[in-house]
Amino acid sequence: MAKVVLRKVRKEFGSSVVVHDIDLTIPHQEFVVLVGPSGCGKSTTLRMIAGLEDISAGEIHIGDTLVNDMPPKDRNIAMVFQSYALYPYATVWENMAFGLRVRRYPQAEIRRRVEAAADILGIRDMLDRKPRQLSGGQRQRVAIGRAIVRDPEVFLFDEPLSNLDAKLRVQMRTEIKKIHQRVATTMIYVTHDQVEAMTLAQRIVVMNAGRIEQIGTPQDMYERPATRFVAGFIGSPAMNFVPCSISDGGAELGVRIGESLVLPVPAGRRDRYRAYSGRSMLLGIRPEHCFDAKTHQPAAGQAPFEIVAGVVEPLGIDTMVHFELAATPVCARVNSYAVSSEGERLAMVMDMNNMHLIDPQTDKVV
Ligand SMILES: Nc1ncnc2c1ncn2[C@@H]1O[C@H](COP(=O)(O)OP(=O)(O)O)[C@@H](O)[C@H]1O
Ligand SMILES: [Mg+2]
Repeated sequence: MAKVVLRKVRKEFGSSVVVHDIDLTIPHQEFVVLVGPSGCGKSTTLRMIAGLEDISAGEIHIGDTLVNDMPPKDRNIAMVFQSYALYPYATVWENMAFGLRVRRYPQAEIRRRVEAAADILGIRDMLDRKPRQLSGGQRQRVAIGRAIVRDPEVFLFDEPLSNLDAKLRVQMRTEIKKIHQRVATTMIYVTHDQVEAMTLAQRIVVMNAGRIEQIGTPQDMYERPATRFVAGFIGSPAMNFVPCSISDGGAELGVRIGESLVLPVPAGRRDRYRAYSGRSMLLGIRPEHCFDAKTHQPAAGQAPFEIVAGVVEPLGIDTMVHFELAATPVCARVNSYAVSSEGERLAMVMDMNNMHLIDPQTDKVV
């Protein structure tokens, strides 16, 4: 049983603080993903949990043990890195058994564990090969196998799929999810790729500049981002942000964009947004919440508007169309047959039930 708890964990390199007093509790057996742009402190946080990096302040607990001063080898964790770091002249079997040999496990136990891990990973018939006789995905499997045989309380992954090509990355993503189901261990996974985070995580921790922006399920992050950063980081193509103001027409409330466009605020949000009327705000709306009116009759809370299509990008399943709202570039995901070329006028619908209102003074979603 190992939950992992970080209390006010801080990391300074010289005079610069790269992790700012973060608090995080990861329950036993949870798959949590730390995601954020390069340099935001993900690897440093993971390395502090592993004990590969000292912490400048705070506490880290693994299970019921305060591990601040415990060396990595005593923490009962296993880490998988982006570079597989396999021994090139050793076989797959030897690579996986090495850590157990060093710890003087009996031969029969080593065999049992290596074979069980090889079965989980589907590499049983490759145990006699050398790493150079394996594909990138198979090598990464061996690196994961080396972690599994240790039977750790916590798995730490640092961008383990970043060296693989796009197709293999998607395959291994599914594999890693299966592995979590089969070995049922606490897993902390670091990536800069928000799609990887969304697909793998039970809970996502979005980091930005050494701080935690938001913690929640993938669905929370998508539907209820707390900040402009999370709103723009999660989801692809990214959310559109359009300068606007809230116009108060008594019972009605509207999102005013530029001179002529006013989109009504859905009834359920009026009380929440009224306090911001008259102020400069940002409307956040995802491309998939702007439809074409030909295939989508407006329903309750959905507002019609008109555009002149800019660049049109057919994706097969649907089409991305770029346009401007009061000189701000916006992108919408429309039906494949809704628009064919630049310059066409197009009747659109914005699903205001999925709008976000951001206060640019705080960058918080209100
Ligand atoms: N050993 C180090 N000495 C000084 N600065 C470091 C060291 N390791 C990382 N940093 C800095 O700490 C910040 C966070 O790095 P890192 O945790 O590797 O980010 P991420 O994994 O999110 O890309 C970066 O600005 C990086 O340059
Ligand atoms: Mg990193």
